[in-house]
Amino acid sequence: MTLKASSHGQWSSKMGFILAAVGSAVGLGNIWKFPYMVGDSGGAAFVLVYLLCVFLIGMPILVAEWMIGRRGQHNPINSVVKVAEQNNRAKVWGLIGVAGTLGAWLILSFYSVIGGWALSYIGFSGAGDFSGISPEGAGELFSNFLGSPGTLLGWHTAFMALVVVIVAMGVSNGLERAAKLLMPALVLLLLVLVVYGITTPGFADAMAFMFQPDLTKLTGQTVLAALGHAFFTLSLGMGIMLAYGSYLGEDVNLLKTARTVVILDTVIALLAGMAIFPVVFTNGLDASAGPGLIFVTLPLAFGQMGAGSILGVLFFILLVFAALTSAMSLLEPVVELLEERTPMNRIGATLVAGIATWLLGIASVLSLNLWSELHLLPGMTVFDSLDYLTSKFMLPLTGLGAIVFLGWAMNQDSVLKELQLSGGQATAWQLASRYIAPIGVVIVFISSLFS
Ligand code: PHE
Ligand code: NA
Repeated sequence: MTLKASSHGQWSSKMGFILAAVGSAVGLGNIWKFPYMVGDSGGAAFVLVYLLCVFLIGMPILVAEWMIGRRGQHNPINSVVKVAEQNNRAKVWGLIGVAGTLGAWLILSFYSVIGGWALSYIGFSGAGDFSGISPEGAGELFSNFLGSPGTLLGWHTAFMALVVVIVAMGVSNGLERAAKLLMPALVLLLLVLVVYGITTPGFADAMAFMFQPDLTKLTGQTVLAALGHAFFTLSLGMGIMLAYGSYLGEDVNLLKTARTVVILDTVIALLAGMAIFPVVFTNGLDASAGPGLIFVTLPLAFGQMGAGSILGVLFFILLVFAALTSAMSLLEPVVELLEERTPMNRIGATLVAGIATWLLGIASVLSLNLWSELHLLPGMTVFDSLDYLTSKFMLPLTGLGAIVFLGWAMNQDSVLKELQLSGGQATAWQLASRYIAPIGVVIVFISSLFS
């Protein structure tokens, strides 16, 4: 009896943890961002580098963040400082946590704008706007939508309000439990879209575009984009996985869990690409259309399918849901920081963090229309600049900090013991965590300076 009870307890804590981690990882990054980056960066060569980055660099860093969090048992900043002290290292390592929290705030500001797009597309689909729509019509629907700052602001506000209410009420757990049901539903709808894609004439071209790499298409910039997206999609370099690690029991096997999360995240991104590109090639659309890609292609797919309006509504609801669980995880570190460093209570901290994020998001909204000529970084709108700064700069650097900390500042015997590794496996892990992952990040950075 005792045995049964305790193994049940373990199971539910493990399950809760995996759901939270998957909820954070799977989101707009997989379904909105991955396909348009593949399109922007020339297809299969990008996919290949992305996969290498996810498995060789992302996975070890995911393990590193969880382990530091589990040992630190605090918020990201204090956890790193505490583990640094345990290993007789300087407190500056705490900067990893500071940079992460700042990154989370910046990302959520534009993430919420895109979450707003997804919200409004539930309405478009429900109103039957997609049925029989032409490629031009879908393009127009989207560009009219982008051209109206008031509408975008409204949806950004609605999305951010949802996030704040969920985080403030502390019902995140419920939402994560709902993920058990909704995540498979999302995968199912993606499969429906892929099957629809198979019936269209552009399917073969789409598969070739995604899976037949032409390595001459690679530049330092596309490799950096692939690396940055590996971090973005796994929620790395932001202290989020660090924070989740602090709730982890000793019984959870970090390597196995990381493998589960990474594979799930990758499969969902690849399915999204396989759903989108057949529509692109069948309708002669531009694969490098940028952030609007899924918002132009999906209406076409749903518009031509039987029961397409209903499937469209369902799909965008599930997308919003996936975006919400990621957004919650992005708001959390900011809330925690305010709660611990100021006299604010949880509700006050959530409100203040939410409003600060919402305000910054307005700049991204305007950069899509009224401020489209305003450049923050050279040649980049506010929206593009925030995306660039976070994905291509802050996340990889912070992640690099975490893996260097684990590989070089922490006691290696205890790391190997915690991962239950010995012999050849231990050597492989050491190779990955001390050399391949950190050197990989550095090489990508250097090569991006030259092209
Ligand atoms: N990983 C999430 C996604 O793919 C986005 C995210 C990034 C969430 C960073 C948390 C932290 O959509
Ligand atoms: Na993701």
